[in-house]
Amino acid sequence: MQRTNYCGLITNKYLNQQVVIKGWVHKRRDLGGVIFCDLRDREGLLQIIVEPNSPCFNLALELKPEFVIEVHGLVRNRPQPNPDLKTGDIEVIAQVITILNTSTSLPILVDDETTSELNRMSYRIIDLRGQKMQKNILTRYKITRTIREFLDNHGFIDIETPFLTLSTPGGARDFLVPSRINKGKFYALPQSPQIFKQLLMVAGFDRYYQIVRCFRDEELRADRQPEFTQVDIETSFLTEEEIRAINESLMRHVFKQVLNVDLPPFPVMPYADAMSLYGSDKPDLRIPLKFIDFTHEFKNCSFKVFHATANMGNGRIAALVIPATINLSRKDIDELTTFVKEHKAMGLAYIKVVDNSQLNDKGLSSSIVKFFSAEELTTIMHKTNAQNGDTILFVADKSKVVNNALGALRLKIGHQYKLYTSEWQPLWVVDFPMFEYDEQLNKYMPAHHAFTAPKAEHVNLLLTDPQLCLAQAYDMVLNGSEIGGGSVRIHDAETQAKVFTALNLSLEEAQIKFGYLLENLKLGAPPHGGLAFGLDRVAAIMCKAESIRDVIALPKTTTGQCLLTNAPNFVTTAQLDELNICVK
Ligand code: AMO
Ligand code: AMP
Repeated sequence: MQRTNYCGLITNKYLNQQVVIKGWVHKRRDLGGVIFCDLRDREGLLQIIVEPNSPCFNLALELKPEFVIEVHGLVRNRPQPNPDLKTGDIEVIAQVITILNTSTSLPILVDDETTSELNRMSYRIIDLRGQKMQKNILTRYKITRTIREFLDNHGFIDIETPFLTLSTPGGARDFLVPSRINKGKFYALPQSPQIFKQLLMVAGFDRYYQIVRCFRDEELRADRQPEFTQVDIETSFLTEEEIRAINESLMRHVFKQVLNVDLPPFPVMPYADAMSLYGSDKPDLRIPLKFIDFTHEFKNCSFKVFHATANMGNGRIAALVIPATINLSRKDIDELTTFVKEHKAMGLAYIKVVDNSQLNDKGLSSSIVKFFSAEELTTIMHKTNAQNGDTILFVADKSKVVNNALGALRLKIGHQYKLYTSEWQPLWVVDFPMFEYDEQLNKYMPAHHAFTAPKAEHVNLLLTDPQLCLAQAYDMVLNGSEIGGGSVRIHDAETQAKVFTALNLSLEEAQIKFGYLLENLKLGAPPHGGLAFGLDRVAAIMCKAESIRDVIALPKTTTGQCLLTNAPNFVTTAQLDELNICVK
């Protein structure tokens, strides 16, 4: 017989009605001759009562955790409601119970907070039965359904692109797939459908999207998986602002539909400002702390470290003002010093403002005040606007180190002392540089990818000052996580050739690597651009999950393993022979 409804949806609207429900035995308790059984399915828990005079009482005594059962019974008010449960004000008096299947004892408990992640991944199917994972996976589904609905309504068409494709250089390492028929040759799994979606624009499809798996053989972290999902989007004939506007509406719509949250306006922040104010290209704007720069002011100061840093060219001295509400002790500062050293900084200097009417070692408790002139101290107080009780923390080092270490310190303090001023803080980071200099390879590499268009007014810098050349590239950031990124693409051969020159890539090499794109760009390519969202990251943030693994049904570990299937694994010699492959 069909169920009346899911366990978790049997609410008091079914009061005094006969219902049929099916699910898993979550817990069974025998209390004073009455058996209480929590029945669970994907919508939640429901309390079943079996009274001693019930015809199914003896059978109920046999129920064990995770048995699959069918119950026929009557819904009644619960004498002691449980406000923590959706179904907490009712219960079902069982009349008939059928055991549909039994279960051997489980390797892990369902919904047990103490289970290690290793065990959760090894017994993922049981782990997935838990309320948290069921909710996360359902939320992820609601997100993709809402995205599809929005994009369908805005004229985007879903087009699939190949998984077995050509290995392309740049970005992460490729996952390779050997071809049996073409001995010695390999396909690569796509790192993203980037080139294909551009070609679809040349083919005239105008507005494309795909919710698609991407494969990257890179170092894994909490927010990185070797296979992850992008919401991949490309459009023709739109400006950068228009592309951003559509994608911003999309994210707004998803938050409204799935979480009933109205996202605040998205500020648009140039990359240079993000680095200068937050030391990061994905600043978490929920935390109000900002960097205050002193590189220029300390050029002549007598503290050796600061003096040397301020004069070394790529050096930076920046400060954070920690408000008086967080009363940092010497011990706290020592701990923070260890923390910045773990992020490769040489030290953390501090000035604790005791009395800002006395700019000396009485009014300022500090490791460095003795090195500064009265004028310099006035400048520090003026620029930081530090009040009594505030602590000013300084890091001096190569810019990169300062941004990393002080940026990490900003997040740590913000998190530890709950400085968040809002729940959701989206923004656009724009005006990324076109190139990054690779110290090891001794050449410029694309900061986004080689087909990203420079800002129109910067085309002339491509060959003269590539390091100054900015791109029409943008990232969407939410709560300190890069949830999407994209760009306007180059659609004319002349600019593309200049970019290849800046990258020190000859036209012949470019032809070998990207020939099929370049050939087609010559055949009437419309102006185009797009973006890809990292769906796993969006879902993790919306579910408030700590890792993207918690919103992926069957994820890999940080060493790229699937503990469910034990992939990757060795294959037989016969399989290798067939592929003409010999393992070293
Ligand atoms: P990009 O490489 O920035 O751009 O990727 C887009 C978004 O995908 C997510 N992401 C990841 N998520 C989980 N695990 C990973 N290993 C991983 N790598 C990236 C991020 C990121 O913002 N083709 C371009 C997009 C474009 O230009 O249109 C691209 O792939 O959230
Ligand atoms: P020292 O003269 O080495 O004892 O340093 C004086 C203070 O400056 C100490 O609090 C150090 O932690 C701090 N300090 C040292 N190097 C740096 C640096 N590169 N940036 C910020 N503070 C530093």
